[in-house]
Amino acid sequence: MGMMNKMTVADIDLKGKRVIARVDFNVPLDENGNITDDKRIRAALPTIRHIIDQGARLILVSHLGRPKNGPEAKFSMKPAAERLSELIGKEVQLAADVVGEDAKAKAAALKDGEILMLENVRFHKEETKNDPDFAKELASMADIYVNDAFGTAHRAHASTAGLADYLPAVSGYLIKKELDVMGKALEDPERPFVAILGGAKVSDKIGVIESLLEKVDTLIIGGSMAYTFFVAKGYSVGTSKYEEDKVELASKLLAKAEEKGVNLLLPVDNVVGKEFDPNTESKAVDSDKIPDGWMGLDIGPKTVELFSGAIKDAKTVVWNGPVGVFEFERFAVGTRKIAEALAASSATTIVGGGDSAAAIEQMGFSDKITHISTGGGASLEFLEGKELPGIAVLNEKK
Ligand code: 3PG
Repeated sequence: MGMMNKMTVADIDLKGKRVIARVDFNVPLDENGNITDDKRIRAALPTIRHIIDQGARLILVSHLGRPKNGPEAKFSMKPAAERLSELIGKEVQLAADVVGEDAKAKAAALKDGEILMLENVRFHKEETKNDPDFAKELASMADIYVNDAFGTAHRAHASTAGLADYLPAVSGYLIKKELDVMGKALEDPERPFVAILGGAKVSDKIGVIESLLEKVDTLIIGGSMAYTFFVAKGYSVGTSKYEEDKVELASKLLAKAEEKGVNLLLPVDNVVGKEFDPNTESKAVDSDKIPDGWMGLDIGPKTVELFSGAIKDAKTVVWNGPVGVFEFERFAVGTRKIAEALAASSATTIVGGGDSAAAIEQMGFSDKITHISTGGGASLEFLEGKELPGIAVLNEKK
């Protein structure tokens, strides 16, 4: 786990070299194409600065969204290239294509310290197939491959893994930081170690639940996932969303927690509503008293106390996933209270996943959290103990 012995951008001579750096600039855009959260771009700045300060010629490559039909303007890297240019105070050229004539000509013309961003690498279907010829063509533009796309490190694509077959491959500072902080929490946590998992589906989180049951002192489960556990405990859940085919698994996980001596906390009360609607009538009820015709939308006030208390006593806290319907203002209360409890804690606090990170940021608590991961899926797979392909391919230190 952690970075082990992988080479980083600090371990390789970059002067005058052409460096192809995979970043994760898959940033959210509003309907007008404006970036609504540039955290992933800011997080790549230390690596980008290092590469150009060393006098290298930098070619950046990223995906944005999931284009399926070749080039499409709405998936262009243009807003990301512009934002990077503002943040770094330097021109960032944008190629009109990925491995076409324009990209190749611009890459060849780069001078020391200059930056070129390629168009969205997923404009080629070969990218997600990790096609070797495509990886080779990308590699032909550069001398060194730097991977700093932590958010995409769980994908074995041409630009996140394939490139390492053709070029010396090292990690950037973001990947190093993500792995160092999260690796330490998993390997040698200060205890009590508390994990909070929210979100919709047990199926998305089984691997993480199983792996965390081996490591944590307390595992807190919120979000719609909790309702599958309620059914496993024999509670009726009204019209709450839950996964019928995961009830048995939830029972097994409850038994496993008991066997391991892990304190598994489920909500003791819930805010329930008549419909899945931001304005629906709502009330708080105990978890074993959810009335017919009502559905769970958030954790209740007693649960906020219970979960906050566990967080307060912890020395290490990992949080992934909202505990209620965060997109509805009225049912974002529980998630906000969890964010508050993390911000108030003096523990090592690690937050992963889009909605939990967004809750922290909206409340202005970013600087009160030890580490906000830039990875959603990638941080989950890391917490599961899975090997991330984008990291596995990097060269070992000699
Ligand atoms: C993410 O946002 O989780 C990463 O950028 C990966 O994107 P993907 O799920 O489309 O591969």
